Formats: sequence, structure tokens, C-alpha cells
Amino acid sequence: MRIIGISPLDKDTNVCLIEDGQVIAALGEERLSRVKMQDGFPYLALESLFKEYNLTADKIDAVSYAFFDAKKEAELMRKAHSNYREEEKKSAISELFEKFQKLPPTPSQKYNIPGLPEEELYMKKPWYMEKYYAMASKWETFAKSAHQKGFSNWLDVATADHKKYEQELLAGLEKFGLSDKLQRVDHHLSHASNAYYTSGYDEALIVTLDGYGSGLAGSVSVGKGGKIKRIHSIPYPGSLGEFYERVTSSLGFKPSRHEGKIVGLAAYEDPDFLYDIVRSYFEVKDGNIFYRLPHNIFFTRHLAAIYSKPAVAAAFQKVLERVACEYVAYHQQQTGMKNLVLSGGVVANVKMNQRLFEIPGIENIYVHPGMADGGCGVGAALWTASAKKTIQPYKLNDVYLGPEYTEEEMAAELEKQGLKAERPENIEKSVAQLLADGKIVARYHGRMEYGPRSLGNRSILYHAKDPSVNLWLNTQLQRTEFMPFAPATLYEERDKCYKNMTGAEYTSLFMTVTFDCKDFMLENCPAAVHIDGTARPQLVSEDSNASFYRILTEYHKITGIPSVINTSFNMHEEPIVCSPYDAIRAFKLGNLHYLALGPFLIKGEGVE
Ligand SMILES: [Fe+2]
Repeated sequence: MRIIGISPLDKDTNVCLIEDGQVIAALGEERLSRVKMQDGFPYLALESLFKEYNLTADKIDAVSYAFFDAKKEAELMRKAHSNYREEEKKSAISELFEKFQKLPPTPSQKYNIPGLPEEELYMKKPWYMEKYYAMASKWETFAKSAHQKGFSNWLDVATADHKKYEQELLAGLEKFGLSDKLQRVDHHLSHASNAYYTSGYDEALIVTLDGYGSGLAGSVSVGKGGKIKRIHSIPYPGSLGEFYERVTSSLGFKPSRHEGKIVGLAAYEDPDFLYDIVRSYFEVKDGNIFYRLPHNIFFTRHLAAIYSKPAVAAAFQKVLERVACEYVAYHQQQTGMKNLVLSGGVVANVKMNQRLFEIPGIENIYVHPGMADGGCGVGAALWTASAKKTIQPYKLNDVYLGPEYTEEEMAAELEKQGLKAERPENIEKSVAQLLADGKIVARYHGRMEYGPRSLGNRSILYHAKDPSVNLWLNTQLQRTEFMPFAPATLYEERDKCYKNMTGAEYTSLFMTVTFDCKDFMLENCPAAVHIDGTARPQLVSEDSNASFYRILTEYHKITGIPSVINTSFNMHEEPIVCSPYDAIRAFKLGNLHYLALGPFLIKGEGVE
């Protein structure tokens, strides 16, 4: 059984190939088109799969897509809209206005946040806009009508988008001769499927949380014996994804893209300062989440216009963690499940995942590495496979599921670019020594990673001993981040570095959860530890990436430290590099010290 999965076309479109219930290949269109979060039909990615695996349309059993057709999605959205009006009548919405009537005075807090200068700490708005935000947050009639207007607009835009992308999907499939193979899958079932079928757990509590999908913003299912049974759903607009997108945009960042910056900023302020106010957005009762007037974005704009970015971010992060934990804990208690598996854009929040792992009764956690919508093609295809014949959950050995280039292709590109390369006898040993000598090494090796993270094959590596590296390396790469770089750590050394790892080892192969650091990390790898004492490690095992493992082993031998900084190999706001050409270009633009391109080692210009 050979199935092609295609993720939603509205952003970051990915394609994958599934054979007999296992993922063989997966990649995002952005890596080939070189446009970050590329939307539309994935012509380049699908073409590359066809070429690589010698596919023709008749060799494909089905094509799975992670949304219903535009007509059904429109119906579900309209239903969500009218149901919300009914729920709104039952909710104690006045609590929200009461909180906004009594906002606390602004504290004269001083911050020292690398990458965030004093003048960018606050969102400055003209007085009339502030006035407008205040009125839309305190005056009930105004607030409700702002929400209604926002919700109706959303409905119009989302309905039109589904129509547009449906046409693109059908046109693309026709071009590949795949029109008659299309199978549509409920969006949250596709998230649930990628989480469960790649978890390796026969029994699991499956939780999905995102912005919107097939009428929902979240779901809880029970996976057992290869079957998924949904037991609860969060109807849209009870959307934790949109809640977090709103704070991201209100603080001046790009929603669906810069949420990680909010997580980073949150650690710099006391979350309790605005917690009560932001918490009043939600009612969580008996395993249900109700979000009060979500489409009135002015509540959040109002807070952002008054308080510092870290103060607002901290409250939103804590509310997200608390609401998600209350929701999951309720369903954990109802089911008694010990294995928690997660998917959906919201679970890209590594800090929230740490809190979910701490829920009493949860013993193991797994976050699907392609947790956002880009991974939904994998989920939809696995769901289709399971519907045809029962498949069993398995563990991904690794996520190196993207394209690979030959040595000849690398050598040809080096020659074309006029770069001289060495070919060391033991490239891993050479890279380890360079890292120990304080050099930045960009590593390009084997197949590219599936999902949003660089996990060693398209990574920039550096030692983690100097905390000031975060500022200067980000500046060099033209990035602004408020979380430190993540560490890659030898699998066997994990307990020396992090607390409470037991039960999260598998998911940590993919850098999906934060952990409190032990003193060893604080002392030896301060550059990879956040101000709150956490880090988001990638554990590197010999099985998952033998060559990267050898680099870390050698580095450990030389320095006694089993972790290095691992950050994505790309330039500012560009997709992670895919081809040797991309790698060489980013290496030159970033002025990096060394490039380890397959077996070749290239020294940067002017490097001592
Ligand atoms: Fe989603």
C-alpha cells in the first residue's frame, strides 16, 4: 500500500510517501522553492518524490489530504459560528470586562534582554488607537460587536481560502494524473494519526491543539491496538492556537511564525502580573474549553499598548500552559492513560509540553516532530492506511526523510563556486576538534530533516560554553531570538544534563520539549540554558544519527562536555538549506568559519 500525503495548501505545504503504514519520505515545498512557509500545490516536492522513488500515478494507491472539501469545511465553519452564539449566551462573559476595568499600574521594570533594545520593549501606539482598544475591551456592547465582526470576517476569508486552495489542489493532482486517488481526512484526525502512529505506543491519550481544522481547534482521542477513537473535541473558536497568534501579532511579531519569540520573552517577567486578566479569556470546565469573545483582538492589543512585551508574553504563556494542562489532566483522569501523544501547531510550544509531561499520571510523552500543519500530510496518509488495513504504531528511527545529494553533486557545486575543500580522513573528528577550538561549523550531511527543526544534518554547530554567543551569532545570522540556542546532547549523557527525562527520551530525539537543567549544564553549557534554567535538547543516539553521534562523542572526549549548540542552517527568515548550493550560499552569507559538506571540509574566508 503506497500513499502520498499532502498537508494543507494554505501554508508550509509538505508531501510525504507512506508505504505499508510507515513514512518513507517527507519534505516541505519551501525547501525547494526557497520561500519560507511556501503555500500552494507542492509541485516541486511531489516531482522530487516521483523522481527519487521512480513513481508513476498507477503505482500510487491513494493521495490523502488533511481537510474536507471546501463545501464541507464552509458548512463546519458556519456551524461553529452559530453554535458559538448559543454558548456565548450561557457564558459569564462579564467577568472579562470586570477584569479589564481594573488593570494594574505599569511597573517600572528594567529588563536586560539580549536582542531586544530598550526602545522596542513596548508597543507604542497613537493615543486615539489606545483609546479605541480600551473602549473595545471595557465596553460590553462594543466588545461583543468587535468580536462578531471579527468572526464574520474570519468566516468570509477562511471560506474563500478553502475554495482557492481546493482549486489549486485539484489542478495539481490532475497534472500528476492523481485526480481519482484523492481521499480527504478530517483535519484533527490527521494530527491525531501522525501523533499516534509514530509514537510506538499501543495505548495512548492523543491530544491535538491548533488554530483551526475541520470545525475544531482541538481534540482528545484514545489510541488502542492500532485504532483511534475520538472522545472529545474543542469546537472552533475555542482555539489556543489563535489565542497565542493574537499575542504574537499584538507584540509586533508574525503570527504562525514567531511564536517561539513569545516563549522566549515570557521567561523575563513575572507571569502573575497579568495572569488573572488573561486567564479570564477562558472558562475550562468538565473537560471543555470556552474562549470568551476570541475574535475581539482588542483585548490583547490593549494589554500590549500598556504593558511591556515580556509582561504580556509571560501571562499568555502561563495561561496557555494552565488551560492546556487543565484540559489534558481532566481527560487523563477520565481515561487513566499513561502515554500522552501530541500534535497540532500549539504543541510547537516546547515549554507547554514540559508542563503537560508533568501532569500526574502521565508517564511518557511524545510530540510528533512535524507537529504543525506541515505534518498533516503524514497524518492524513497514515489515517488512510489505517482505514484500509489496521496498522500498528511504530517508532520513527529518525526524521531524516528529505532529499539527499551525492558526493559528486557536492564536489561539482564546490567547483562551480570556486571553493577549495579538504577531504579529512575522519571528518567527524575534525569537526569535533574545530568545535573544541571555538569555531562555528555548518554541517551538511545525508538526508534533510522532516519538520521544522534542524537535527544535525542541516545544522550550525558551536560550543555552548559562552553565553554571549547567543547575541553575536544571532546578529551574524541576522536573527532575533529571545530563547538561547538549543543543545544537541549525547543520548547516554542526558541524565547528567537534564532533570526528569525518563519517559521523554524518544520525543527528545526531535527537540520537542524543554527540561530543567542540572548544575552540569548551567556550569558547562550556559549558552544553551534559558534565563529560567531550562533547555530544549535534541538527544543524539547512535541509531538516530551515527555520524553526528561520532562528532559529539569526539567532542566529549576532548572537552568532557557532551553537548554543543545546534541551530538551523539557514539565513534570516529563509527556509533551512536543502541542496549543496543552498548550503554554500548560506555558509558564505553567514560568514561562518567552516562548512562540513558531506566528506568535504571548507574553511571560510579570512578564518585563522
Ligand atoms: Fe492543524
